[in-house]
Amino acid sequence: MTQTNKQKVCVIGMGYVGLPLAAVCAKDGYDVTGYDLDKGKLDIIAQGKSPFYEEFLDDLLPNVKFKVTNDPEDIKHNDIYVICVPTPVDEKHNPIIKYVADASFTVSKNMDKGALVILESTVNPGVSEQVVKPIFERAGFTIGKDVFISHCPERVDPGNKKWNVTNLPRVVGSFDAEGLKRTVEFYKNITSGEIAEMDNIREAEATKILENSFRDINIAFVNEMAMSFAKIDIDITNVIRGASSKFSFMPHYPGCGVGGHCIPVDPYYMIEKGKENDFEHKFLSAARKINDGMADYTVEMLQDKLNDVSKAVKGTKIGVLGISYKANIGDLRESPSLRIIDKIKKMGADLLTFDPYVPQLSTEKTLAEILKKSEALVIVTNHNEFKDIPVEDFVKNGIKVIIDGRNCLDKKAIRAAGIVYAGIGR
Ligand SMILES: NC(=O)c1ccc[n+]([C@@H]2O[C@H](COP(=O)([O-])OP(=O)(O)OC[C@H]3O[C@@H](n4cnc5c(N)ncnc54)[C@H](O)[C@@H]3O)[C@@H](O)[C@H]2O)c1
Repeated sequence: MTQTNKQKVCVIGMGYVGLPLAAVCAKDGYDVTGYDLDKGKLDIIAQGKSPFYEEFLDDLLPNVKFKVTNDPEDIKHNDIYVICVPTPVDEKHNPIIKYVADASFTVSKNMDKGALVILESTVNPGVSEQVVKPIFERAGFTIGKDVFISHCPERVDPGNKKWNVTNLPRVVGSFDAEGLKRTVEFYKNITSGEIAEMDNIREAEATKILENSFRDINIAFVNEMAMSFAKIDIDITNVIRGASSKFSFMPHYPGCGVGGHCIPVDPYYMIEKGKENDFEHKFLSAARKINDGMADYTVEMLQDKLNDVSKAVKGTKIGVLGISYKANIGDLRESPSLRIIDKIKKMGADLLTFDPYVPQLSTEKTLAEILKKSEALVIVTNHNEFKDIPVEDFVKNGIKVIIDGRNCLDKKAIRAAGIVYAGIGR
């Protein structure tokens, strides 16, 4: 690690990406300011707490000190600015670059000459050049002389116990050699992971899009196989186990939908970029369509299996287990559960919900309560406490149908107990 010499770092955006980065920078000896527009979030962070659940931060936050502010005046005179603001899509799947542009504008109006600006938000190739760079030029700065601009896409995976901001390998691209050198030096202080230097900033932007589209496509492929195999009574989880014995196979798993701020969003950034250049991303679009359709497929399966026990969705007490998009965290962004809940509710079910990480949207306070009241269950999130429910608990509570949207329960034992069970492709 090189000396930070008390360099001043300002992190713009105190969310899932920015907050861990700010905390790690503070731990590594930087003088850190966290800037966000959300005062409520800042008040929580100022108390040494995280506004969202992340085990990694539970240990770190109480032991580090950094300033947080929503006043642009307080972000003056920093050596490094790292922009970690959202890059969602609108309801028509058009990229929303506004937050990146606003944050860049704020930095450009408050920085001193010579600062390094790093964009960590996920963007499509071209955003640094077409959106970020002109903002700094309009503020009177010459790129590569008065300001150095780089892109280092974040790869953090909330809830992942192995990979975090201190050990993730990084990819860096910049507009010039000096920007690249300074950015690499900065990340060498942050992470023990390898740092790949790209030839230009567009390649760094494209890397993140490639990684996340790769996941979306592979998940869509396995979802398609799962739905087809289900028609001929083949359990895809066993098939994946079999295929995994081949050296070149890379297992991906089917499920009731893909959520989060990255996988269901980032491919749209490339699809839209393609359109600008008269290029149609058929593969990416097909994957998005399949994965977006999994919530509906899950609800159709519920209808079907309820019919097997002479019940309809309407009027049946249906318990949805899991509201967040992935196991053991409370993040709701793009969660398939929201669509499943909405659909079941519209169909007239007597709906019950429970997620230990999302109490604000849970109709029930405990797992025991929802099991007691439900006639059918839909498992949408594979939180540890759901995977471990003993089959006897389903039986003694009179559960008649289980739709396992994450293939996380013991199919054989549940069926042997006389309960109708269906997973995604099993
Ligand atoms: N969450 C993840 O797992 C993850 C992983 C890798 C990459 N990313 C990418 O990182 C970026 C940030 O994601 P996130 O999950 O941290 O988002 P987030 O919504 O959790 O946090 C972003 C924060 O930025 C703040 N903000 C918005 N506009 C601002 C502005 N102009 N000035 C200051 N603050 C502003 C918001 O109030 C919010 O607190 C996105 O581009 C995302 O795609 C996210």
